[in-house]
Amino acid sequence: MASLPYIVGNWKMNGTRASLSEARAIDRGAARLPKVQVAIAPPATLLHRTREAVELIGIGGQDCHAKDSGAFTGDISAAMLKDAGADFTIVGHSERRTLHAETDADVRAKAEAALGAGLAVILCVGETEGERDAGNAESVVGGQLEGSCPHSDGAVDKLTVAYEPVWAIGTGRVPSVDDVAAMHKAIRAKLVSIYGEAGAGVRILYGGSVKAENASELLSIRDVGGALVGGASLTAESFLAIVGAAAALEDN
Ligand code: PGA
Repeated sequence: MASLPYIVGNWKMNGTRASLSEARAIDRGAARLPKVQVAIAPPATLLHRTREAVELIGIGGQDCHAKDSGAFTGDISAAMLKDAGADFTIVGHSERRTLHAETDADVRAKAEAALGAGLAVILCVGETEGERDAGNAESVVGGQLEGSCPHSDGAVDKLTVAYEPVWAIGTGRVPSVDDVAAMHKAIRAKLVSIYGEAGAGVRILYGGSVKAENASELLSIRDVGGALVGGASLTAESFLAIVGAAAALEDN
């Protein structure tokens, strides 16, 4: 694929002002590795300060509400993320789908709201262990894409999909190379069926226990256009090791 590998850190509910030094270090490190596109999604409380602390890397939210404003205590709209300096937002992460009971329709509405506010979107999909064991991984992920892919004008140009098997998130377990390859191929085919030829250009990230040690192998798989990284994105050292692995592959 022609586009640069995209390595995104999802800080989840981690990070206070003390973490801004990590964001700065990630930014400096990314400047030395221009063949990789780097971004982080800090908690919303840090978006504005992170925007001011970094120069190069992308900054994003981890979720947004589908509405622009209103009586939704505790929620944050896409326009607010944009105003705080976000370039993109993650939607449909499995922790949101599971812990906040978000449906595919909810995720689609959030993705469309984000696009409407001028944000790019990283849309997460992935099967549970039970679904994989039952042989249903590809049909589950295909159904999630059908239900949650945004359909607003130009959506496909600002969309990234992240395949994150739920059982691989934070567990240290990763699917086999063959399983990742088969799933990314199936996701590519589904994106083409949803968006037509434009679906061939959507970047598909792999996420779930990506570390420096497995990054090269995972990023070498066809149709893996980058990684969504949780735990290993919390320090500049471990995150930049993954970015470095992506850069090394570009040099080869
Ligand atoms: P992990 O999380 O890298 O800690 O497994 C990935 C994610 O949830 O995006």
